[in-house]
Amino acid sequence: MEPLLDRLQKSHALSLDEWEALIRNKEKIDREVLYREADRVRRKTYGDKIFLRGLIEFSNYCKNDCLYCGIRRSNENIERYRLSKNEILNCCRLGHNLGYKTFVLQSGEDFYYDTDKISDIIRSIKKEFPDCAVTLSLGERDKKTYEAWFDAGADRYLLRHETADKAHYRKLHPPELGLDSRLKALEDLKATGYQVGTGFIVGSPYQEASTLAKDLYFIQSFRPHMIGIGPFIPQSDTPFRNKEPGTLEDTLFFVALLRLLLPEALIPATTALGTIHPLGREMGIKAGANVLMPNLSPGEVRDKYLLYDNKICTGDEAAECRNCLENRIGKIGYKIVNERGDSLIPTTV
Ligand code: 5AD
Ligand code: FES
Repeated sequence: MEPLLDRLQKSHALSLDEWEALIRNKEKIDREVLYREADRVRRKTYGDKIFLRGLIEFSNYCKNDCLYCGIRRSNENIERYRLSKNEILNCCRLGHNLGYKTFVLQSGEDFYYDTDKISDIIRSIKKEFPDCAVTLSLGERDKKTYEAWFDAGADRYLLRHETADKAHYRKLHPPELGLDSRLKALEDLKATGYQVGTGFIVGSPYQEASTLAKDLYFIQSFRPHMIGIGPFIPQSDTPFRNKEPGTLEDTLFFVALLRLLLPEALIPATTALGTIHPLGREMGIKAGANVLMPNLSPGEVRDKYLLYDNKICTGDEAAECRNCLENRIGKIGYKIVNERGDSLIPTTV
């Protein structure tokens, strides 16, 4: 293998310059060899198991205006919705019957759901499904709120850093958002005791080898429990509607690098990856991913949570998705399991 990849595998760390050199040379790297290696590393930690996370997109209101995102506040072309606690619990009931052991509550940054409302929802889910993990993906809040939700029983939190380069961050986000507060939120989450997930968009506008190197370097130092990455997909109602999408090849390349960097991380083959190629998720798994996040949101709202265009599975029932994935994953030699799938990386607290 390429010497830098060799070093990455042995020491799980590269300097910022080395990351950049590796990324600049990405076309010269033998992808078959890289994916095989990433798959081998994953099999040593998590075997052939693929963990499921039932995703409940409970509100598409958002106070932010990220330039890439379809549910940004200035998009007047979408119908906004909020699910009630009971509707959320019904999604969990459906998911639990299908064998799901993790529920991911995701929304735009919607402060209608204040600290207490979310705490109450978490408590109700944990009471009815004590065998399940609750993951939150609700954006930036203050540390006290993160602590309250953790005390209410939440286990994990997903908050992608999106890009670890300050100037690039400003190009993707409105002026009131900044990388510093994003990174502070990630530190707060970790200090609170959550299993924390972060990640970035592959092929976002203005991204360069140097910004990607910072993403990898940041992940190397932060050591998240989970890492979610997916290709940039333009959304027709956003300022980035005409920008080039990210590629399948690049996304798979970074999935594999992340697996070599953090053998014990939980890495999803994301819906965005399944959207840019019909077999994108399968290829993601073969390149080192070990998590899938099927949608458990009610049918009526699925097509309203459109972060990007042509999102897959918006018309499928949850049960159909489950069967479909079982077949697809079995065919490529892995096994979907009904387990919580906690990280092997210890939490801070
Ligand atoms: N293309 C790809 N990923 C996107 N996200 C938001 N909009 C897009 C898009 N147009 C990602 C962001 C966010 C996650 C929930 O979805 O990284 O953190
Ligand atoms: Fe909602 Fe970015 S538009 S968090």
